[in-house]
Amino acid sequence: MNILLLGAGCREHALAWKLSQSPRCTHLFIAPGNPGTAHCGTNLPIPATDFEAITNACRTHSVDMVVVGPEEPLVNGIVDHLHTQPGLESLLVIGPAKEAAQLEGSKAYAKAFMQRHSIPTAAYREFTASSLDEGIAYLRQCPLPIVLKADGLAAGKGVLICQSHNEAITELGAMLTEAKFGAAGQTVVVEEFLDGIELSVFALTDGRRWVLLPEAKDYKRIGEGDTGLNTGGMGAISPVPFADEAFMQKVITRIVAPTIAGLDAEGLEYTGFVFFGLIKVNGEPFVIEYNCRLGDPETEVVIPRIGNDLVDLLEAAALKKLDSLSIRTDPRAAATIMAVSGGYPGTFRKGMSITGLDAPLPAGSILFQAGTTSGADGIVTAGGRVLCMSSLAPTLREAVAQSRTALDLIRYDGMYFRKDIGWEFADDKP
Ligand code: AMP
Ligand code: GLY
Repeated sequence: MNILLLGAGCREHALAWKLSQSPRCTHLFIAPGNPGTAHCGTNLPIPATDFEAITNACRTHSVDMVVVGPEEPLVNGIVDHLHTQPGLESLLVIGPAKEAAQLEGSKAYAKAFMQRHSIPTAAYREFTASSLDEGIAYLRQCPLPIVLKADGLAAGKGVLICQSHNEAITELGAMLTEAKFGAAGQTVVVEEFLDGIELSVFALTDGRRWVLLPEAKDYKRIGEGDTGLNTGGMGAISPVPFADEAFMQKVITRIVAPTIAGLDAEGLEYTGFVFFGLIKVNGEPFVIEYNCRLGDPETEVVIPRIGNDLVDLLEAAALKKLDSLSIRTDPRAAATIMAVSGGYPGTFRKGMSITGLDAPLPAGSILFQAGTTSGADGIVTAGGRVLCMSSLAPTLREAVAQSRTALDLIRYDGMYFRKDIGWEFADDKP
């Protein structure tokens, strides 16, 4: 089977790494990919959002399956687009249709969906510029802190946790009348603050049946001990020590099963990954957000723990035969540590020469690239999150330690990574 994977991050490198191991994968193309994915297949110089160029690539390269990594093409309707192109009728596409991708594309859409299906989530109201006065009156009587969310895609920046009523009122006004988050903030969801511990749960669905993938926890803050600014993700672990069997059973019966049943009942076409951003509050799971794709950096620990052939899994989802498969999970713990550019998530320099990329890694470690590009004299940095080191080991502590040691093989000016990924669980033996 010829496969085209869309995207360019560490998540896509991890997917490309796994897809290329399948004896069923004849040729893997990645659009646009990065220097890391070039080791797994052929990079095509096509942005993941250029629908026409992607369609042409499917025809030129006789692609049988398209796997969509990032959310933007999904929310823009790449799946619907590909399904209606002449000559591509039998193309398998992994990702939800445009309407179902609104679960990530619109927070108000996701909240209404959860309400319709009695899925536990924070209480909320939504407001637009025309209901600003009502919104302000509502905020005045909300308990603190208050969570404000821009409705649309805002590259992870559209959520504000306000510690005072005045702050919340100012921010609501800035979003609704000054376009603080652009079009994404034309509608604002005001949410009850949930105090708990977060984790990421992933299902692969064919629209009716689903299989659960290993769960993960990501570390979003730049500083050790979860301090400082939010980033795209500084590391991740899997399994998650507090996601015990009793808790996961609640996640399945109250969240995963009713979500997929709700999609099916509403006729929402969904083939692919559902990402449940959850929070555990007093032992009970609540949905913080849905994403219509895999997480980054969670994928870099989830994918290495999956024992199945990924092509088999994705094909079963696309052909609506997921009931014929079950997930085999590597019992080892996985940890990934993200190395970023100095200054990230603020301003940082690009073009720093990276050494050590070809150094032999310890058994169980895998290097995935994201913000890298080919320079005149080799691979150089090209983004905030540069690369990550994933390791599998008998315990979480060993997996983290191994990734940390393996990252010492890599060097570039300004290289920074957190040494404390998994810090709250360091004494646990998953
Ligand atoms: P989201 O983009 O919806 O995932 O929100 C980004 C982050 O904001 C989440 O990962 C949480 O850490 C935090 N957050 C979002 N909603 C809530 C909430 N209702 N209560 C507490 N924290 C939240
Ligand atoms: N790690 C969170 C995300 O991918 O959105």
